Amino acid sequence: MKDARIEHIVARVKDMPVLPSRLNRIMDITEDPDSTVEDLEGEILLDQSLTSRILRLANSAHYGYPRKIDTISQAVILLGFQTIKSMALASTVNKMMTRELSGYALAKDALWTQSQTCAIISRYIARDVGFGNPEKAYIGGLLRDIGKTILNHYVDKEYNAISNRVKFGKVSFLEAEEEILGFNHAQVGGRIAEKWNFPIELVEAIGLHHSPERSTEDPKLVSIVHIADSITMMIGISIGADGLTYPFSPFALHELGYDPKDMEQLISRSHDLIVDMDSFNL
Ligand SMILES: [Fe+2]
Repeated sequence: MKDARIEHIVARVKDMPVLPSRLNRIMDITEDPDSTVEDLEGEILLDQSLTSRILRLANSAHYGYPRKIDTISQAVILLGFQTIKSMALASTVNKMMTRELSGYALAKDALWTQSQTCAIISRYIARDVGFGNPEKAYIGGLLRDIGKTILNHYVDKEYNAISNRVKFGKVSFLEAEEEILGFNHAQVGGRIAEKWNFPIELVEAIGLHHSPERSTEDPKLVSIVHIADSITMMIGISIGADGLTYPFSPFALHELGYDPKDMEQLISRSHDLIVDMDSFNL
């Protein structure tokens, strides 16, 4: 029944985001081991704004390259395929995530800022625990709350019922969302990722970011995004109505080899990273 309702919503939502075909091509190229730098360069050059973002990043102090990078092929070699993929995706979802989401009391740009924060922390944790593909963690962190862009309309309509549940029922916003609507923003986000033909482990990272213990594909990836999400909420940047701190899942901590005592240090390191975010704010 629950599933049928999500299907119904996902099927009828007019503004269900569609991935531009160019982004799909860029993702295919970056995943294909036989692709060349020229293949990727050719696709990037078709997009003026992506071209200039990539050059800006390659020439930023963050990479500290001594010589000016003035071609996309040099930038691709310097940054790597995976970073280019994250950038291309970020520049696409940026448009979907900047609008105001009144149902979640998120001002314009708030979800976007929060998502970038979560993405950067996810990548950091991935490196910290030796996870093989930090850029995948970045993408999971970036998209984990994308379901809110779709669900906003429904949450808005039921806003009083949901916030009363939070206030008087002592449940989290997520639980209230689930009780009143029958599903939560994570599940809807998972559906979007499925529609975009994302690999199953990313569908899970988004769909289960509040319930990592249910992961079957790549519990480490889901756990990384879960921990990064909780830290993002704790750091308290543009948290909106969903800003109740979600406790760290013991499953996720165990999966990543963290002790609960490690979290204080991880939160303070994440904070430092975010203060420095402007240096790679794209
Ligand atoms: Fe969430």
